[in-house]
Amino acid sequence: MEVLALGLSLALIVFPLFLAFRKRSEGGNGAKLPPGSFGWPIMGETMEFLFGKPEKFVGDRMNKYSPHIFKTKILGEKTAVICGPTGHKFLFSNEQKYFTSFRPHPMQYLFRSYQNNTAAQPPPPRTDELKSIRQPGFFKPEALMRYLGKMDSITQQQLQMHWNDDINTVQVYPLAKSITLTLACQFFLGINNPERISRLVKHFDDVTVGMHSIMLNIPGTTFYRANKAASAIRKELLNVIKEKKLAMATGAPVQDILSHMIVVTDPNGRSMPNAEIADKIMGLLTAGYSTVATTITFLMKYVGLSPEIYEKIRAEQLEIAASKKTGELLEWEDVQKMKYSWNVICETMRLVPPLQGTFREVLTEFTYNGYTVPKGWKVYWTVSTTNTNPEYFRNPEKFDPSRYDEGEEAPAPYTYVPFGGGPRMCPGKEYARLAILAFVHNVVNKYRWEVIDPNEKVEGDMMPEPEKGLPIWLHHHH
Ligand code: HEM
Repeated sequence: MEVLALGLSLALIVFPLFLAFRKRSEGGNGAKLPPGSFGWPIMGETMEFLFGKPEKFVGDRMNKYSPHIFKTKILGEKTAVICGPTGHKFLFSNEQKYFTSFRPHPMQYLFRSYQNNTAAQPPPPRTDELKSIRQPGFFKPEALMRYLGKMDSITQQQLQMHWNDDINTVQVYPLAKSITLTLACQFFLGINNPERISRLVKHFDDVTVGMHSIMLNIPGTTFYRANKAASAIRKELLNVIKEKKLAMATGAPVQDILSHMIVVTDPNGRSMPNAEIADKIMGLLTAGYSTVATTITFLMKYVGLSPEIYEKIRAEQLEIAASKKTGELLEWEDVQKMKYSWNVICETMRLVPPLQGTFREVLTEFTYNGYTVPKGWKVYWTVSTTNTNPEYFRNPEKFDPSRYDEGEEAPAPYTYVPFGGGPRMCPGKEYARLAILAFVHNVVNKYRWEVIDPNEKVEGDMMPEPEKGLPIWLHHHH
């Protein structure tokens, strides 16, 4: 009798546990959740995600669980990581059907001052936030074409200012950042004030690092520094907005993105509050700043280490320079001829991705590869599931720009997606292409260089940077 009672009570305890366990691994309605682990309570696998090599984080889990999809918990969210070219295609083709955009909480917090959010209660994601920059066509070829000459002349001025004839040991990274932010401030804000811009550089570095950090807002933490920097940038931008409004009141033309944001109104005729404009501009500047600066920097490293690649780029750029009159700035037709230089840029971005990947929020439960991902979960895609995979790139560790030549060997669709794809593809892609090509044109025409420490450590996994700013020996062509 006692045995029976014990057996019964055990069954009463164990059976619900068994059901609960089944429910957990199968999802609420019996559907099968992706394989993987949510890691530690609260933290999940955030530490491994933020502080490990990105390819290792995904590579280990793709090997252990599934090469197509696995679950994890990062930055406070249950997340399905969708992998490989088929995963990329699925994600880019189902935007707004299954997914909408999602920014991790630290990013929401840093970029949304105008909604009075708190760390404990981040505001709900807003899906329309980028409409204003996608609509007016600032990033369309016509607009960029007009800006290309300016990009060229700003790059020349910056090189002249920082890498003049008297010096022969220089650091690449600080110059790359200065050029990038100067270009962006001109294009987005219509300002070209070097002092103002150099004040902003340090702040943008802090914000960029803080976008993927633990949301611990106490002195000494990355997130705390990012928050302070975001406030400083906002303050400066609010001043710029006031000045711009004054200038526009006295007839200044609507030329840059900022003036457009000032005049644009919503369907009720309301214009955007200054604080909201400041946050949007800060988002744009951040997106366009470290990505381009990183690419320029690592391009200088790879090309500096390969005289053969340098000679090929230089030959291409000298031919373009020779076809122009002295002092004539770059034009649209010129950049179309920079095919080899673009391949070198692509190869740089493959080995050092300026952006690893982004998140989405699941709008409707969907099934992928036999696994169900519930509504409300987040989805993450990342270039690191394909970029260094020997299945898609032969000798993946080798810097080889010729792999992008057209033909059988060219990367298969969706294996090389540095700018993402589908409707959310990076709106700054063409702008970035022109800015980096304008830099390449000027730098190889003027200089030859040698990397001082080929083994210089690269810090930061989400936003890679050379520890000592990539010092080089610079030789001027005369
Ligand atoms: C080498 C340079 C760059 C790379 C590799 C890059 C890459 C990316 C990637 C992978 C995304 C995510 C796409 C997705 O979620 O599917 C993205 C989004 C974005 N990029 Fe870029 N980007 C670069 C430069 C720029 C520049 C120069 C700007 C601005 C001028 C910019 C503005 C943006 C914005 C605003 C988004 C968010 C779009 C959205 O969520 O709808 N990017 N970028």
